Amino acid sequence: MTDRHYPATRLRRLRSQPFLRDLVREHRLSPADLILPVFIREGQGIREPVASMPGVVRQSLDQLVITAREAADAGLPALVLFPLIEAAHKSEDAAAAWDPDGLVPRAIQAIKAEVPQLGVITDVALDPYTSHGQDGLLDDTGYVTNDATVEALVRQSLCHVAAGADVVSPSDMMDGRIAAIRQALEAEGRVNAAILSYAAKYASDLYGPFRDAVGSAGNLGGGGKHTYQMDIGNGDEALHEVALDLAEGADMVMVKPGLPYLDIVRRVKDRFGVPTLAYQVSGEYAMLKAATDHGWLDERKAVLECLLAFKRAGADAVLSYFALDAARWLQEAA
Ligand code: PBG
Repeated sequence: MTDRHYPATRLRRLRSQPFLRDLVREHRLSPADLILPVFIREGQGIREPVASMPGVVRQSLDQLVITAREAADAGLPALVLFPLIEAAHKSEDAAAAWDPDGLVPRAIQAIKAEVPQLGVITDVALDPYTSHGQDGLLDDTGYVTNDATVEALVRQSLCHVAAGADVVSPSDMMDGRIAAIRQALEAEGRVNAAILSYAAKYASDLYGPFRDAVGSAGNLGGGGKHTYQMDIGNGDEALHEVALDLAEGADMVMVKPGLPYLDIVRRVKDRFGVPTLAYQVSGEYAMLKAATDHGWLDERKAVLECLLAFKRAGADAVLSYFALDAARWLQEAA
């Protein structure tokens, strides 16, 4: 027995009892890490299912207020609003995007009137409002123009902040829009309106169900967004995007999609050390739901594992269509 070799280190020792595993767990998920994207529409008493996202609905503003209260009760810090705009209000110039009486401003006001402590984040991009479904304005050749689009995004941002939005979140990927929005907010005295930049947003196929939800898929036709969203093969370029957006005045940056892009989340966090969010997008939601609805995966366990993985990768918070369910599961387990 004396010449027997024993392991000097037994990593299994600290896995042997629940209290030890709890004690040395490096990362935890809490409701405060989760942000719920919500699809909104006109009407009253409406919760309209999104076919490609089972469990997700487009809701009228009276329902939104209920959701907002549930979100706050579950410990979520904020919601992000995504509007379904009626065809009659879509146009080539996307003018409905900065209508002070539009759906998004009214939604912001409704939440702030009823659940003022809940953060309200708005999406800044023109795709719900353009008749062609692109995030920006087109020139004669059908190309999405940069600088004219940035002017429109500035108007949209000012409109959202005037209505009470706490954070505007440009998801359009135009160049220079963070600087333009920041300057305009400062000039209007909106010094505490925060900007969450979709800094590293890829031209991903995983946004398909979202485009159904906001009704831009049909308008977009087969056209993609590859002339402005990032190429999926690029990693270093994401760091360049983040550096520019931070220099232009972004307060927080986002990586999107989420789980397949955790390498980018980690690189951004390591390089810049700034608040870094990630978006578990509609296609990721649909994949998980498809498997859990078939009973192939356990929904709670699979979803909470994926969300924790974002935190381990360096994300400070995650946008997820599971946010409300996950927050409730976490509350139940606490
Ligand atoms: C649009 C926008 C998109 C998403 C958020 N904002 C779609 C797109 O770029 O086509 C995708 C979100 C998701 O898939 O869940 N500006």
